[in-house]
Parts: sequence; C-alpha cells; structure tokens
Amino acid sequence: MCGIVGAVARHDVTNFLLESLHRLEYRGYDSAGLAVTDNQGSIQRIRRVGKVQALQDAMIENPITGRIGIAHTRWATHGEPTEQNAHPHVSEHIAVVHNGIIENHESLRIMLIKRGYHFISKTDTEVIAHLTHWEQLYCGGSLLEVVQRVISQLRGTYGTVVMDSYSPELLITARSGSPLVIGCGIDENFIASDQLALLPVTNNCIFLEEGDIASVTCNIIKVFDKYGNDVKRTEIKLNTKYDVSDKGVYYHYMQKEIYEQPLAIKNTLKNRLRYGSVDLSELGEKADLILAEVEHIQIISCGTSYHSGIVARYWFESLIGLPCDVEIASEFRYRRSVVRKNSLIITLSQSGETADTLAALRLSKKNGYLGSLAICNVASSSLLRESDLALLTKAGIEIGVASTKAFTTQLTVLLLLVVNIGRLHNISNQIVQDIIQALQVLPQRIEQILSMDLGIADLAEDFMDKQHVLFIGRGDQYPIAMEGALKLKEISYIHAEAYAAGELKHGPLALIDANMPVVVIAPNNTLLEKLKSNIEEVRARSGLLYIFADINAGFNNSVGMRVISLPHVEEIIAPIFYTVPLQLLSYYVALIKGTDIDHPRNLAKSVTVE
Ligand code: M6R
Repeated sequence: MCGIVGAVARHDVTNFLLESLHRLEYRGYDSAGLAVTDNQGSIQRIRRVGKVQALQDAMIENPITGRIGIAHTRWATHGEPTEQNAHPHVSEHIAVVHNGIIENHESLRIMLIKRGYHFISKTDTEVIAHLTHWEQLYCGGSLLEVVQRVISQLRGTYGTVVMDSYSPELLITARSGSPLVIGCGIDENFIASDQLALLPVTNNCIFLEEGDIASVTCNIIKVFDKYGNDVKRTEIKLNTKYDVSDKGVYYHYMQKEIYEQPLAIKNTLKNRLRYGSVDLSELGEKADLILAEVEHIQIISCGTSYHSGIVARYWFESLIGLPCDVEIASEFRYRRSVVRKNSLIITLSQSGETADTLAALRLSKKNGYLGSLAICNVASSSLLRESDLALLTKAGIEIGVASTKAFTTQLTVLLLLVVNIGRLHNISNQIVQDIIQALQVLPQRIEQILSMDLGIADLAEDFMDKQHVLFIGRGDQYPIAMEGALKLKEISYIHAEAYAAGELKHGPLALIDANMPVVVIAPNNTLLEKLKSNIEEVRARSGLLYIFADINAGFNNSVGMRVISLPHVEEIIAPIFYTVPLQLLSYYVALIKGTDIDHPRNLAKSVTVE
C-alpha cells in the first residue's frame, strides 16, 4: 500500500529517493515525505500532502541533501492524509518510515505519553519512532539491538526502516507482514518495499523473509532472522525491465495495459502450449503426486483475482467434474471452515503480496490441505515463495491500480491448469482440444475487440451522468459482470453492482426505471434464451439496456436498447473475451469524467494491509 525507500551511499541520495517514490506512487499516493541525515548530522525532513510531485516541488524550493535517507509515499490507514500524518515520523534524532498496521499502537501511545512523549500525528507509526528513541536513551545498545527490542513490542504488520542521525552510515530495516527488499550496489545499498523502486540503481536484490531484520551500510548488509540468528539470504539477480515514464502512445497505464492483453496472453501461453498439448512441467516433479490426489479445489483471492476464481469454478466443475469452492481471502481467514478431503488451495493474485491472501495461505498450511498452488504475476512475490506449487502469469508489470491484463492472464493460466489437472482426472480428449484451440486464437480474438474501441468509447457519454449502473450476466459471465462493475466503480466512481441475471426478479428489479443503465453480457451460448427473458423483464420496466452481444445472438438496436455487436467467440474463452469491452467501457467513462484513472481515489495497487 504505502511505498518505502531507503538509501545509504557515498553521495547525495535525495534524487534516488525521489525518483523511487515516483516509481512506487502506484502503491499509495495521498501524501509523501523524505528525510535525510545531513552533513552536520541532523535530520532534515520534507513532507507534502498529495502526489510525489508536490514533494518534489517543495524540495526544489527548499533543497536538502544527505548521504543517507528514507522516504515514503502513503496510503492512509490511521489518520487522514495530512502533512503531520505523512511519513517519515521523527523522534529527535530517530526517523522512521513504515508500511503496515501496528495493532497495539494505542496502548504503546498511552505508555509513551506517560513517559513524556508528545505525539504530533494520529498515525500508528509514530509510536515506532518514540519507542526507538526511548529504548536507545534508557536501555542503550547498538541501533540494531534497539530496533530488535522495539519490534518485539509491536503487534500487527510492518515493513519499516529506521534512520538514526547519531549513526549516520546505518539503516535498520525489519519485515513482518509487509514486503521489503534490499538492493545491493557498489559502495551504496538501498531498501524498498517493492523491487520496482530499485531498478534504476541495481538488479541485485535480497528479499527479506518474515521476521527478518537487517542492518544496511554502504558496503555491509547483515540479515538476522526472527530468532536473532545471523542468516544468509540469497542475492537474486532480477531481469525485470521497467521504465516508469514509458506509457508509449497511451495516456494512461490502464489503457496501455488493456491494449497489451493480446501480447500478455501470448507470453503467458509461450512454451506452455506445445505440439497440440499443454506443458506445465515447470510445476516440477512433485506436482503430479499432489495433483493426482486432488478431490476438491479451494480458491482464495481478493478483488479482481476473486472474480477470476469464480470463473475458474465453472471450468473446474463443468470441464473436469472437480468440486471447487471460491472464497474472498478476508472472509476465509477468519472463518472456521471445513477442509474437504484432498483439497488443494489455489491462491490467485497479481501482486502476490495481498495481506489477506497471504494470511489465508498461511492459515491453510495449518489446516491440513493437500497442498497449495499460487497463480501470480510477480516472480519474487511472497505468495510464490510460500506456496508448494506456482504458476506465473506473464502479463508484465501492471501499474494501473485497476487490474486488467493480470485478470485475463490469470484466466489463461487457469484454463491451462484445468487441462493439466484434468489429464490426471480423465478429462476428455475433445475438451482438451477445444481448450487448446480456443487458447491459440485468444490473442487474435482480443485484437478484434480492441479494434472496436471507438464504438465503445462512443457509449461512454451515456454513462457519465449516471449515479448507478447494473451489470448482468449468466453462468460464467456472471463473474465477468462482477468484474465489469468493479472496474466501473473503481475508476469512474459510479456506483455499479453485478447480478446474476436470473436474480433480478428477486429484488434488484425494484431499481429499474428510465434512469438505470443495465449492461448485459450476452454471448451466444446455452443460456442465451434465459438471458433474453431477463432482458425483457428490464425492458418492460423502461430500463436502459446496453447489450454486449454475440453477433449471432439476434439482438437489434431499438428504443431503450443499445446493442454492441461482437464477433463470435469460442464458448470456453468467452469470459476472457467479454471482459475486454467492459474494461474499455470503464476506461472511457472515467476518461470523460476526468478522474485520476491510474490512481483512483482511496485505492492502492497492492493491498499489503488488512
Ligand atoms: O494483487 P492482487 O491480485 O492480490 O490484488 C487483489 C485486489 O486488491 C485487486 O484485484 C483489486 O481489486 C484491483 N484494484 C481491482 O482492479
């Protein structure tokens, strides 16, 4: 959620810190701040409400420099987005940035107030700064020992970096529940909550593990595990290439990422669809031992990734007869659920750092599941590292907060997985061939939709003044209706809800009148006639229909009914195909409304807090 960076070098680090904050801005963007220890050994700090650019402008007016520093871009949890609440938080010579939530901050705050500390902010983070100061002043020891004692008193989650101007060559960083990576340079080292921040300066990274604490100077990095043991964490060479300024010909990352989908899907299929069969040998030798045993699948995910899970349930059950349940991770983790016999946990996540999904995975390990399989877009993510089996979506970095290509590539991988698991569960040859043939033409089908973008842009004006929109679909298009509604509300701030079309008459029909747009997803499938009846229910109540329909579905424009005729598509990939026009619709509605498409209000790309 928030973005953290730190640097220690033999030269001024402020430019690096600012540039990195820009790269992390997609993680949180309601305020930003930076602190350095200057050449006189004092902490200099600047914070601003709003985007990193506001901080950068302030630093042009009041330049500060230092060879060691920390910086932060915030997504508010405790305390509104104000300058006082922005990080870094300072307690005399101690400065702290923090990502996560300190759950016992109230009791620590009371204790620290009794000890004479005066709190400036409403954040939970400020307790870390004062506690560090107190521990150092009254109990002493090295900064590492001090921070070790501090974190032993914290409950909750944190990725944190502590700077002490009395130790002007040393940063201490600690991870528990919020990711942290150390970037290894030559005579300079860096810390970040996301490897993207480090790419301009180094590809060599050390990912901290849960409970790790590290001391970082220009040329020495020492990592200690949660028991205080000096441990060696492997240095990894990243081969990610990313230029944050590179939107190419597009206005927004979201737009770029929508148009990248044919390529993202091709990359996801590469070397996995070969000689007319699916090859997921990358899962490793132990995979078949687990997958052959599977009698039930439990999918856990959040947001858009949850919607791909619901589509997958249709596929697992209808194509290979494997029972499948799907649950939102934040519910699953706090519910006593019954573990079915030989149940495989599948987690779906773009980032692989979503706190609820990770917590659900960790919980499942204690509950006797057969094993876990993660489908994720970030190779170095915690989710992939902590799962028994892993499949990478190869969408490329997704920057837009609204997830697009990560969703369609997740669905692509899920179809490959259906074949792979199905192979061990008597899947019919015909179904395998249907899936493979459909996947082969999928990039081309999406190109077809993308070429219709102007027609979809045309529709957007009809939505710009609306307060509410309903999305309906049936069968495996119901989760696509959910995804369409999520995209619209997320970036255009229009209230949108999705219903299984057959459910309208059980309540939502009461909402229908001449002001209520109803977006319908209408492929030419076995449920079409049923869907047509639901459409008539809306028409009879003067609802405004926008029907994304298969060209052969037999719809025509008429009063109150606008039909967007789409090319015929193979039934199996129809959920992926129909997602794209809904993404375009949301994008164009938001464009007309002038919202901040890549940084929608109140949201952040990677939800690393509960
Ligand atoms: O990184 P994840 O896929 O685990 O993220 C889950 C959700 O936070 C995410 O899909 C969110 O709903 C998107 N902003 C939707 O566009």
